[in-house]
Amino acid sequence: MNLDKTYWESRYEESQTGWDIGYAAPALMTYADQLPSKDLRILIPGAGYGHEAEALLNAGFTHLTVIDLSASALQRLQQRIPATDRLKIIEGDFFEHSGSYDRILEQTFFCALDPKLRRDYARHSYHLLASGGKLAGLFFDFPLTKQGPPFGGSTDEYTALFSEYFRIKTLERCYNSIKPRAGKELFAIFEKI
Ligand SMILES: C[S@@+](CC[C@H](N)C(=O)[O-])C[C@H]1O[C@@H](n2cnc3c(N)ncnc32)[C@H](O)[C@@H]1O
Repeated sequence: MNLDKTYWESRYEESQTGWDIGYAAPALMTYADQLPSKDLRILIPGAGYGHEAEALLNAGFTHLTVIDLSASALQRLQQRIPATDRLKIIEGDFFEHSGSYDRILEQTFFCALDPKLRRDYARHSYHLLASGGKLAGLFFDFPLTKQGPPFGGSTDEYTALFSEYFRIKTLERCYNSIKPRAGKELFAIFEKI
C-alpha cells in the first residue's frame, strides 16, 4: 500500500478517519501547559484536522505551524480558526519541509508512516529542530506488524531509533491517554543532541 497524498485524501473524503479524536489530546495539552514560553516555535506534522493547533492558538501560542499532505483536512482547520499569523498552515510533505523549530509535537503521524520511513522521520525531525529543541508526544505501544496504519512499536524500538539523534528525556506509559488508547501509548520527550 502506498501511503501517499492520494491515500490520505481518500481517507478524509470517505470519512475513514478513525484516528481523529475530535479534540486536542489531553496529554499534548498538559505538556504544552508547562512549556516555558508561548513564543516557542512549534511544528505539528501530519496534523490532520489540527485540534491541537487550534487549542494551542486559543491558549495564546504565537508561533505555530502545521503541515499535512491533505488539503481537505487542512481546509477544515482553516474554517474553524480566525485569520492569524500565529498559525501557519502548510499543505505539503513533512520530509520536504525545511524550517527551524523549538518543539515538534507528535500524535498519530509517526505511526501513520510506512515503517521504512522511521529513520528518516527521526533524522528529519532532528534537522528541523533548533539547538536544544525537542520532539515530544505520543507513540503507540503495541507490536509492530505488517498491518497498519497505525503501525506499532515499543520502548526498545523507539529508544534504538531515536537515540542516534536525541537524548531520551522521557519515554514512559502515558498517564493521561484518552480512554480508547489507555495502556497503548507512550509519552516521549526526545531532546536534540
Ligand atoms: C493518522 S492521521 C493523524 C492526523 C492527526 N495527527 C490526528 O491525530 O488526528 C495521519 C496524517 O498524516 C498525514 N500525512 C501522512 N504522510 C505525510 C507526510 N509525508 N507529510 C505530511 N503529512 C502526512 C495524513 O494526511 C494524515 O492527516
